[in-house]
Amino acid sequence: MRLELKAEMFSEDTYIKRRNRLKAQVGSGLILLPGNDESPMNFAANTYPFRQDSTFLYFLGLDVPGLAAIIDLDEGTECVFGEDPSFEEIVWTGPQVLLRDRCEQVGVTCTAPRTKLEQILTEAARQRRTVHFLPQDRPENVLKIWRWLGVAPDTVGRHISEPLIRAVVQQRSVKSPEEIEQIEAALAVSYEMHTAAMRMARPGAAEREVVAAVEAIATSHGVRTAFPTVLSTHGETLHNPCHDNVLRAGDIVVNDSGAESPLHYASDITRTIPVAGRFSQRQRDVYAIVQAAQEQGIAAAKPGVEWRQVHRLAAVALLEGLKGLGIVKGEPQEAAAAGAHTLFFPCGVGHMMGLDVHDMRSLGEDYVGYTDTITRNPEFGWRSLRLAKPVEPGFVVTVEPGIYFMPHLIDRWRAESKCDQFIDYGRLEAWRDFRGVRIEDDIVITEHGCRILGPRVATTIEEVEALACS
Ligand code: GLY
Repeated sequence: MRLELKAEMFSEDTYIKRRNRLKAQVGSGLILLPGNDESPMNFAANTYPFRQDSTFLYFLGLDVPGLAAIIDLDEGTECVFGEDPSFEEIVWTGPQVLLRDRCEQVGVTCTAPRTKLEQILTEAARQRRTVHFLPQDRPENVLKIWRWLGVAPDTVGRHISEPLIRAVVQQRSVKSPEEIEQIEAALAVSYEMHTAAMRMARPGAAEREVVAAVEAIATSHGVRTAFPTVLSTHGETLHNPCHDNVLRAGDIVVNDSGAESPLHYASDITRTIPVAGRFSQRQRDVYAIVQAAQEQGIAAAKPGVEWRQVHRLAAVALLEGLKGLGIVKGEPQEAAAAGAHTLFFPCGVGHMMGLDVHDMRSLGEDYVGYTDTITRNPEFGWRSLRLAKPVEPGFVVTVEPGIYFMPHLIDRWRAESKCDQFIDYGRLEAWRDFRGVRIEDDIVITEHGCRILGPRVATTIEEVEALACS
């Protein structure tokens, strides 16, 4: 099916309003927003697919390499710096839209060559004006900051602007209806990716063949995946990067994959698929526990609820289910308080999602998921929570509980008798090779609750089995 994905940039007005809000929040000085460059795979002209910096996309929408922007808060000016391709470059790339025409579409009237940017920043440094910039993940952008501002690469982290980070995080956290539309476009693609994987997951198929088919769907819609596809019969490894196995009857496959929308908003869905089309009784039992935990998490998600409470709720639901299987003993609330769930669920129940699959992670997870009073719990499992603070209308969050049997972790805990009042290590032995189950959907927090975004991929045991054997 050919999806009609809306590929036009947002209106000029959207980008102008975003920048105006940023200006009002940060107040004075200059804001420096470096865009990304092409990244060589093995030599400069042979590059990885270009991905623009997400904050640059958010405020300027310009999806081409080699740009940077300065917003002068004191002068009230904004300018984008970059070069149009030379006559000779066009021989290789074909004609390109001129930078000034691109900038007009997003309400920026000033464009200039990059040499001008260096002059402006040198002058700002001479006048001791504050230049606000964000944490930089790309090494070449760290080097640019060094060249432009004289900040040595290993000290860049000490010069980032906390007011700018906070202003950007506050704005990007709340998604507008047009952003939700983009996320749902990405989810329409990931719906097809997951449905195809369910149909393909038959005995004898290689994981890499299924991955190829899943990723081809994104390519066929003119978009790319939002993160490296996780698709493995070893679903107990949370972000398993290998696709080396051949599927066998009796296996279950965790497929954690998602596409970007045309404007680069992410989707992130996980389903667990029975290879021969039917879950075994033990697989059904674990799947049903994870599904119940996800349902409880989604039912609890509403404005003002701390996400760490949603995580705790899911953890208790998982422990209750595992108690029913005889693996966990004692009172589930107490077991969760002691951290017993982290043997089976050592990650968080969800993360913010938007222009990045882990939204704004490069700006600092603590700014995105925590507050001055809700700080990271350093305990194993808990410290992996990317989001703990109360959620607000417009936040887009994943809900992704799972149960993972990791032999190395089980052996370590057992040797340390860790939480042995809550875990029946004798019974657990029979499950050590079970592997993993995860179910993940993306939700938006609404005024009174939440809404599951996108077309819902088959989720119940019956729905998944019907597709897996079709
Ligand atoms: N679902 C992939 C990730 O969270 O990174």
